[in-house]
Parts: sequence; C-alpha cells; structure tokens
Amino acid sequence: MTFFWSTWITVLSFMCWAGILGVLLMVLKYKPEVEEDGTTGHDYDGIREYDKPLPKWWLVIFFGSIIWGIAYWIFFPAVFPKHWDGIATVEIDGKTVPWTSHNELNSDLESNNKVFTDNFEKSILANADASGATKTLASLAEMQATMRRSESPPADLQTQIDEKTAELAPYIEKLAENPNALKVGSRLFLQNCSVCHGSNAKGATGYPNLTDNDWLYGGEATNLLTTLHKGRVGGMPAWRDQIGEDGVRAASEYVLSLSTNNGDKNNGELDKNLVAQGGPIFQQNCALCHDKDGKGMISAGAPNLTDNIWLYGGERETVRNTLRYGRAGVMPEWETKLGNERIMLVVAYVYSLSDRGAQTANASIPANTTAPKAAAPAATPAT
Ligand code: HEC
Ligand code: HEC
Repeated sequence: MTFFWSTWITVLSFMCWAGILGVLLMVLKYKPEVEEDGTTGHDYDGIREYDKPLPKWWLVIFFGSIIWGIAYWIFFPAVFPKHWDGIATVEIDGKTVPWTSHNELNSDLESNNKVFTDNFEKSILANADASGATKTLASLAEMQATMRRSESPPADLQTQIDEKTAELAPYIEKLAENPNALKVGSRLFLQNCSVCHGSNAKGATGYPNLTDNDWLYGGEATNLLTTLHKGRVGGMPAWRDQIGEDGVRAASEYVLSLSTNNGDKNNGELDKNLVAQGGPIFQQNCALCHDKDGKGMISAGAPNLTDNIWLYGGERETVRNTLRYGRAGVMPEWETKLGNERIMLVVAYVYSLSDRGAQTANASIPANTTAPKAAAPAATPAT
C-alpha cells in the first residue's frame, strides 16, 4: 500500500474510533430528568421512554471490540505500515519475518511445498527405487539458490547446474515406469501444459506434439529436463530481406521437396525449376541450422524438414510465410513456477508418452535423400 493510502485509512480509522468513543461518553454522562413514574416523559405514539442503563452484555461487546481493534493495530501492520510492522511474524525459509499478506502467502506456499516434497521423497521416489535423486535434488536446489541470489554468479555455476540436472536423467527413466509417479505427472501436465500442448499432448500449430518421436530440442530425459527448467525460444530468422521474395519461393519449394508427401497433399506437383534454384540457397543459408540434409539440429532447435511433421504447417503458402517472416515459438521456463521435483514428475510423464519405439525404427530407415524429389514426381503420389 502506498504511504498516502495507509495514512488515509489510519486517519479515517482513528476518527471513527474517537467519534464512537465520544458518543458513548456523552451518552454515559447525560442524565435526563426523570419523572415520578420512572419515565423521561417522552412519549412516541404511546410508547414511553424509560431511563435505563445500557445492558452489560452490550457494553462488554462494545468495549471488547474497541480493545480487539487496538490489539489488531498492534499485531498487524495496520497503522502507517511504513513505520510499524506489527508484532505478528511468519516463518519463511527458516527465518522469522514480519507478517504481511505477501509473507504469509509465501510461508503457506513453502509449507505446502514441504508437504509435497516430503511426500515426493517418501512415497514416489522410494516407490520407484529412485531415492538416489534426493541428494542430487538437494545440491541442485542449493546451486540454483546461489544463482538466484548472486548478482555476478561464478562463471562455471551454470555448467555445474546443467551437470547436476543431467544426473537426474536415470531417475526420470525409473519414474516413467512407475504408475504412481505418472499419475501425479499427468495431473501436473493437465494443469500446466495442456493449454498449449493439448490435453492429449499432441500439440497444435506452433505447439509441438510431445507424443511423437520428433523433437526440436531432443527427447532424451536430459533434453526434456533442460527444456522444462529454462524454457526455449525458437529462432527461425526472417529471410525476405536477405534472399528476396524469389529466394523465399525457391527455398520453400526446395524445403517441400525434402519433405515426404511434398509437405502437404494440397501442394500438388512441385515446380522443378524452383526446387533446383532453392537447393543452393538452402545450402548457403539454411544448412547452418537445419543441417546439410535438412534433418535439423537439436542444438539450434531447428526442426527436421525431411519428415512430414510440421510445427507451423506444410502448405506451400505457410512454408513461404515461415521463411518470409521467421518464427519464434516460446516455451516458458518452469523452474521457478513448478520447482525441480514437480518438473521431474511432468518430464517423466512426457518421457513416457513419447514414442520411443519409433526412434529405433526411424534410425533404421535410410536417410531421406537430399536430391530433390521433384525430379521423380511419380514417386510421391499426392494422397
Ligand atoms: C504458453 C504455452 C506453453 C506452455 C504452457 C507449455 N509449453 Fe511446452 N512448448 C511451447 C512451445 C511454443 C514450444 C516450442 C518452442 C519452439 O518453437 O522452439 C514448446 C516446447 C516444448 C518441449 C520441447 C519439444 C521439442 O520438440 O523439443 C517440451 C518437452 C515441452 N514444451 C513440454 C512442456 C511441458 C511439460 C509443459 C508444462 C509444464 C509445457 N511444455 C508448457 C509452449 C508451451
Ligand atoms: C539460425 C538458425 C536457422 C536458420 C539459419 C534457418 N532456420 Fe529455419 N528454423 C530454425 C528454427 C529454430 C526453427 C523452429 C522455430 C520455432 O520453433 O519457432 C525453424 C523453423 C523452420 C521451418 C518451419 C518448420 C515447421 O515444422 O513448421 C522451416 C520451413 C524452415 N525453418 C526453413 C528454413 C529455411 C528454408 C532456411 C534458410 C532460408 C532456414 N530455415 C534457416 C532455425 C533456423
């Protein structure tokens, strides 16, 4: 609250309090003249007024509430909060701090979290034979806290955090086979992730499907943990200024030629000339991230363009727009929102969803040729 508003409320409260007290004192002092029959002589529609003292119970409640109000002012930062913190306190992080609604919320969150963490360690980790993770989690949390507190963290701290995070990977694999952990993980997914990735995790335009075996940033437990901890921002540059509209059309046609099914069944036959022109443009500008054969690179978050899985769509015009204006999908970070334990559970859930069988199957399929398929259009029936 700003200084003005707290002053305003304090002044109003004091005025109200003084006013009520004044009225009460006045009433107590006022002694009306009483007639012989004990009434004041006032008569309203036949109802005659006696001079009786206020009932005791009423006075007790009245003074009680005044005392209550004063106690409240002493306990809580009600009077000029800038100067008086109140004597009430809460515990945060083992430290006793003055009560504020904000501190109380944090304290509650912390104790809830403690209940969750204890539960996580005692039932979920132990149950999944993954208790070894407890020590790693503790030192990871310590490093993260140092990172958050210090203004200029030691240069290698982030590397250490990454290494610690990677140490959790084997436990993710264990959790991914534990029904108990998956149940909690799936709830966390529904609460936090389904808005973007869909309740079945199959994604939508711009939001990757997490159940297939196509990964922008890698589908191993370590990759997933890093994605969740730090978040990701896709970095597909805009190309129109660099290679011109003609370049965009040629490179797009080449991209479609890489993909199975020419990108989309509605694209029809590809323009062989454009594909031929697009090849060199691709090698010069795009291979850096999407690799020479267009299979993508997880270090750049650049998708594989040779399959038929599209983040933004494989229709000719959509691909052209991707090239013209660039793309920058944002996956938020979850480290501060969910914490390491919940991240482990939701990652285990995602890990369990992804189609790991397809990984081995895919690896055995010969690499999709870089030679433009349009050279042999009959090989790709438009179905
Ligand atoms: C605000 C929308 C949003 C929410 C909420 C969200 N994500 Fe994402 N997520 C994205 C986007 C967008 C991407 C793709 C980023 C890119 O294009 O580079 C992504 C990428 C990912 C990836 C990487 C996929 C790959 O192919 O490598 C994973 C894994 C992931 N999200 C898991 C989750 C989980 C688990 C949650 C819940 C804790 C979550 N996401 C919540 C938007 C979201
Ligand atoms: C600096 C690295 C980089 C370069 C260079 C680059 N890309 Fe990309 N590209 C990406 C990233 C990262 C994404 C994913 C964007 C996202 O996740 O939001 C992407 C996405 C795309 C997509 C969308 C794929 C889909 O599934 O919808 C196409 C198509 C594409 N790039 C084609 C190209 C072409 C053609 C070039 C060269 C003219 C090129 N890219 C150059 C990094 C790059």
